[in-house]
Amino acid sequence: MAPLLSVRNLTKHFGGILAVDKVSFEIHEGETLGFIGPNGAGKSTVVNCLTGYLAADEGEIELNGVNITRMKRHERVHLGLARTYQIPRPFPELTALTSVLASSISGKKRINQSFQDAMYDATHYLEFVGLFSKRNILARDLTFYELRMLELARALATTPKLLFIDEVMAGLNPGEAKNAIKMIRRAKEEFGVTVFWIEHVMAVLMEAADRIVAINYGAKLAEGTPDEVVNNDDVIEAYLGRGWRNYA
Ligand SMILES: Nc1ncnc2c1ncn2[C@@H]1O[C@H](COP(=O)(O)OP(=O)(O)OP(=O)(O)O)[C@@H](O)[C@H]1O
Ligand SMILES: [Mg+2]
Repeated sequence: MAPLLSVRNLTKHFGGILAVDKVSFEIHEGETLGFIGPNGAGKSTVVNCLTGYLAADEGEIELNGVNITRMKRHERVHLGLARTYQIPRPFPELTALTSVLASSISGKKRINQSFQDAMYDATHYLEFVGLFSKRNILARDLTFYELRMLELARALATTPKLLFIDEVMAGLNPGEAKNAIKMIRRAKEEFGVTVFWIEHVMAVLMEAADRIVAINYGAKLAEGTPDEVVNNDDVIEAYLGRGWRNYA
């Protein structure tokens, strides 16, 4: 089967820093692809290049066979790419509902979507992530966990095919983290999204990911099933360490 997303030789510099170095991989429809590597390895930069927040210096990105390498961010959203941020980026002065409404309206290309439909959708996604009772609260007054869930609702409201998750657990307490993971699993079940998931907690990806790609210093280190990747000597050396299972 042709891949949903195909990435070939993706490269990105920041001045003298080579943040992403000829990275290639594919994502297949329906799968959960884990993306791992040490701090500063280039994971978020890969997501930024794939979703159009940064322009790639070199390489090709194809979504469903369409070359999107030079497309603008909103064009990629209309084709089915959505993301959450490592650090939530709310509109502080908008309510939770209006925030999701904005995504629902701007995230789709449907010209004849009525305001009522958009409102219905926004309410539905807010309910899905458990924030219905917070719908009239300003984003600036939400807790960190609620902001993470608001991000997820905003991403889902654009009806993505492929959802990029840049660390959903960071900054959450264990109970909240568990809920957040459950929510991603439910989003897959209910909306059929394919998931690209950056996470530092290996135990989570061991359970959730179908495949894992590992990078280090911007370059791909390993790719395979979770078992293959966590037993790869280069990955253990660069990232996991020998005793990682004791801390996971
Ligand atoms: N906008 C930017 N300007 C300059 N350098 C950047 C920028 N964004 C990232 N970098 C640098 O690029 C490299 C890769 O950073 P990136 O944020 O992609 O890593 P990461 O794998 O997501 O790390 P973490 O696990 O800490 O989130 C780092 O050296 C970082 O300092
Ligand atoms: Mg990052």
